[in-house]
Amino acid sequence: MLSANSNTDQSLNLVQRPRRLRRTETLRKMVRETILTVDDLIYPMFVMTGEGQKVEIPSMPECYRYSVDLLLKEVAEVSQLGIKAIALFPVIPENQKDDTGTESCNPAGLVQKTVKAIKNAVPDIIVITDVALDPFTTHGHDGLVDENGVILNDPTVEVLVKMALSQAQAGADFVAPSDMMDGRVGAIRQALDAEGYINVGILAYSAKYASAYYGPFRDALDSAPKFGDKKTYQMDAGNSKEALKEVELDIAEGADIVMVKPALAYLDIIHQVKINTNLPVAAYNVSGEYAMIKAAAANGWIDEKKVILETLTSMKRAGADLILTYFAKEVALMLM
Ligand code: PBG
Repeated sequence: MLSANSNTDQSLNLVQRPRRLRRTETLRKMVRETILTVDDLIYPMFVMTGEGQKVEIPSMPECYRYSVDLLLKEVAEVSQLGIKAIALFPVIPENQKDDTGTESCNPAGLVQKTVKAIKNAVPDIIVITDVALDPFTTHGHDGLVDENGVILNDPTVEVLVKMALSQAQAGADFVAPSDMMDGRVGAIRQALDAEGYINVGILAYSAKYASAYYGPFRDALDSAPKFGDKKTYQMDAGNSKEALKEVELDIAEGADIVMVKPALAYLDIIHQVKINTNLPVAAYNVSGEYAMIKAAAANGWIDEKKVILETLTSMKRAGADLILTYFAKEVALMLM
């Protein structure tokens, strides 16, 4: 009898037979280069006002907006599953929005209250807060707008600094500017240090593209821009050198972690950023990427679990050390 690894179909005289290393699952596991773990995942979560609320986002099936009380339960549960960090996004009621996003800096605002409550209830989990105006502005842009509809840079940075400080004061572990204004990382770092928050980190959305993949997220937050688009501040999909420039600037300004967003259509950017910096690189598997998988799976067109794992593995293989993903809880359960 031939043993399982003797060759019964040899006709070519090959020195290298790569299939040798793929013969069994044990071998495949031994030589696997990229292994996705729960430690890689950051879970974006949506908080809303009210009590006892858990509302599914129509374009993001199985993804919910929670009122603070229910969010705390969910955070405790995902922490139990081994998820180390969450990224918090607020759903601001229309009557709390204005042109300048005043509510964003309210020390008793929804984000600030929620951060305090989470750090109280689940102190170990790393809380990352979003620094951007779009959830808070009536016009839905990430910055202040002048009478001609131009998004103003430096005045916006002033507000972002105040917002970041109020989040640090509430107990955020990291602040994450997602706005793409020039110079905001440096301004936030200086202000945090001046106020004694030297250990509050900055996760910088360094290479954030003006992307159609954000559609479902804007549904979740009711934050779609009321006029124009975000192309004067978010990056052009055709550019990769510019991504490296943005990353370099954010690092010089004090970023602790740099991020590429979206992820799936930008794997080349993740890779280039990874080989050009020594900082941890994060990738944002955004709402549209989530929605595509959920929609195809709901139709029975793809194997959801396998596609999720393959997709996230591709991001890690490209160079992402951390992945923000709405699949985090599902993946934590799969990897258990
Ligand atoms: C805005 C912000 C967006 C996302 C995170 N922060 C949308 C936008 O820039 O319009 C998108 C996240 C996602 O699509 O999952 N500051």
